[in-house]
Parts: sequence; C-alpha cells; structure tokens
Amino acid sequence: MVGRTRQGQPVVKSAGDAHAGNDVNAFDYQADPQGVRCPLGAHVRRANPRNADLPSGGPALFSWLKRTLGFDAQARERDRVASTRFHRMLRRGREYGAPVSIDQALSGAASPSDTGLHFLCLGASLARQFEFVQSAWMASTRFDGLRNESDPLLGTREPAADGSPTNEFSMPQPGGPDRRVCGLPQFVTVLGGAYFFLPGIRALRYLASTRSQGSP
Ligand code: HEM
Repeated sequence: MVGRTRQGQPVVKSAGDAHAGNDVNAFDYQADPQGVRCPLGAHVRRANPRNADLPSGGPALFSWLKRTLGFDAQARERDRVASTRFHRMLRRGREYGAPVSIDQALSGAASPSDTGLHFLCLGASLARQFEFVQSAWMASTRFDGLRNESDPLLGTREPAADGSPTNEFSMPQPGGPDRRVCGLPQFVTVLGGAYFFLPGIRALRYLASTRSQGSP
C-alpha cells in the first residue's frame, strides 16, 4: 500500500534490477505499467507517478511525429518525468508521539491521538503542487483506471458523491484478475493543517532593505 519497504526501498525495484543501485529515488514505473510490482494505487505511486503525458518540444510536424512515435530517445527520457515534475514538491514527514510497534497497531492498543505525523511540504504554488496532488491523485477515486479506491494510507473511506465505495485497494496480478482488498479501515485522521508563506532569499533581502530604509 505504501510502495516502499520499511527500509525505504521502492517495491517496484527488485533486487535483480540491472540499475537497482543504492539510490532509493532513482527509479520510475516504466517497467511496471500494470502495477504488478507496485500497485498503481500505492501511496508513493499516486503521490508521484513519475511518468509523463505527451512528449514536449517544438510544433514542427516532423519533430512532433518523431517525438510522438518515440524515435527521439532524448525527448523520451526527458518526458518520462516531465509532467509529474510540474507537480513535485519538497516534502518531509516529522513523526510525533511514541513509536507504535506493529503488534500494538494490530491489537488496537495504541492511542492514535498520541502518535502521528506532521506532513510538511514546500512548494511555489499551492494549487499546482500540494492541492493538485492531494485532490487529483490521492483522494480521487478515478486514478490510473482504478475505481472505488482512493489513497490507501490517507483515504477517509467515505463513500463518493454518487454513493460508490472508496475503501477498496487493488493489487494487479501477473496473469489474472486483480487481487482486491475491500473494507479498508481509515488509517489517518487529519487533525489540522495550515499554509505558511516562506519568503525566499530575495524576498528576505527586500524586506530587510525596506525596513532599514524606513528606520532613522
Ligand atoms: C499522515 C499522512 C501520511 C503518511 C503516513 C505518509 C506516508 C508516506 C510514506 C511512508 C512514504 C514513503 C517513504 C518516503 O518516501 O518518505 C511517503 C511518500 C510520499 N508521500 Fe506521504 N504520507 C502522508 C501524507 C502525504 C500527503 C498529504 C502527501 C501529499 C499531498 C504525501 C505525498 C508523498 C510523496 C510525494 C511521497 C514520495 C513519493 C515518491 O517517493 O516518489 N504524503 N508518504
């Protein structure tokens, strides 16, 4: 459901991958279009699909055809991440409260209000980054051909406006129908949120210079 192991390895990369390497962020989902290794709806895949819509470039017909038909290797490489790059954000999770062991979580003994995560992200545009990712990719029940499910970690599990369920999770299988989990419980409760303006260096310089100009 997360799409990474507890050690942070992306599950889409198997140990035998030619370019497995040590960088846990150098990967995409090109070799797993059906979501067999990493389900299409896994949290990290929804949050950052690492793919693209259309090859970018000039409008000339020949160049467009070359890119569209996939003959331009350079454009192909660039465009693999281009459209998702548009929505990418800097992100840090900060845990608070006592860590919960798997046994405690399964037994329901841990008090969920004492333990949680501050989700922090930095971006240039709220609408294009955080809000888009949150609504179009995480909360949406229409993502990558999926139906009746939203983000498996964050979903509220409330039925959609048309009454259809949102509490399922599909795990595509190599040669058969998806394995589906139904009736997922709610894992995360949002307690609050806030947007902050974080001035860049140039803005800070500007503010500093304005103040010094005004002072005697
Ligand atoms: C309590 C809520 C959340 C939990 C428990 C959670 C958990 C996780 C975990 C375990 C990972 C994988 C490890 C990592 O890369 O750090 C991850 C990755 C990520 N999450 Fe969340 N997350 C939460 C909320 C959110 C929200 C609200 C967003 C955005 C709207 C988000 C966006 C991302 C992104 C962009 C990644 C990186 C994906 C990638 O590696 O390509 N998460 N999250």
